[in-house]
Amino acid sequence: MIILGFESSCDETGVALVCTERGLLSHALHTQVAMHAAYGGVVPELASRDHVRRVVPLTRTVLLQAGLNLTDVDAVAYTAGPGLAGALLVGASVAQSIAWSLNLPAIPIHHLEGHLLSPRMVDPCPEFPFVALLVSGGHTQLMRVDDVGAYILLGETLDDAAGEAFDKTAKLLGLGYPGGPALARLAEQGDPERIVLPRPMLHSHNLDFSFSGLKTAVLTRLRDVQALHGPVTESMQADLAAATQAAIVDVLVAKSVSALEQTGLTRLVVSGGVGANRLLRERLAQRLAKKRAQVFFPPLEFCTDNGAMIAFAAAQRVSRGLVDLRAPRSHGFDVR
Ligand code: KG4
Ligand code: ZN
Repeated sequence: MIILGFESSCDETGVALVCTERGLLSHALHTQVAMHAAYGGVVPELASRDHVRRVVPLTRTVLLQAGLNLTDVDAVAYTAGPGLAGALLVGASVAQSIAWSLNLPAIPIHHLEGHLLSPRMVDPCPEFPFVALLVSGGHTQLMRVDDVGAYILLGETLDDAAGEAFDKTAKLLGLGYPGGPALARLAEQGDPERIVLPRPMLHSHNLDFSFSGLKTAVLTRLRDVQALHGPVTESMQADLAAATQAAIVDVLVAKSVSALEQTGLTRLVVSGGVGANRLLRERLAQRLAKKRAQVFFPPLEFCTDNGAMIAFAAAQRVSRGLVDLRAPRSHGFDVR
């Protein structure tokens, strides 16, 4: 079965074709990063309008790349949420329209399920069960994943997400948007030990996180430095970036290890935009190697938002019989 998938929950328009037997056939992405950069963050109205402009050309591209026509498609999947309402509506409307016109099933997919299953798109494919560390701009969660659709929440952030902590700190340091990759780049030049930042909830004896205090701690340090030494130098900025990244990564690694210990599982799957962070990848690989556990990361292009993960999640659901393809195709909008 060939599934055409759409992702438009935030600032990336992603379209992909996945075959339930052969896997990913083609995918295309347009990122709006350059457009939003001037405003220091995502402007929802601009995001929706850009999705409208991009979605049809990207659909043409993926069909062309795979050598297929729209009539070869057997089902259409789309991100139903969570995300920006206007942005979600673009992907949902296009998917529903195609499904309606070709009398195909339309499959709504939870954005986080897309991230969660994305590491299974490539080899080596993590077998179930595994622990998933889902670290995106809006979510930080540890989940026990027993199968497609069988997810148990083990812990989550009580306030800011890990990606949000990267982004907000980057903003404080004047690094612009998107903050996470910029902060990670600057951190490469800094000393993570010159400024010590708190590791929130490191010893909380549960699998929850809290990152909002971190940005306040950075702000306080920034003010202290300014009061004592005047304007913040580039090297101090780099040290603050390195200290922030180290604090976030320490907590993510420690809690992931605890989640493996508590569940008795030996596989950790990392997904979501922060999964692109080099230090996080290195630290997890080191820690889990010592524990004889495995860690799986999606390739960088599938860490951040993309259409492939949505089409793929739908394909996994279809393969396991979790989608009733014969159900009356009510094409009401399912946007959360
Ligand atoms: O999964 P994603 O693309 O979108 C959401 O669903 O939120 O994640 C975006 C988040 C942003 O907060 C971004 O700053 C962060 O992932 N991010 C990174 C890196 N690349 C993206 N954070 C740290 N290091 C990176 N290399
Ligand atoms: Zn995402």
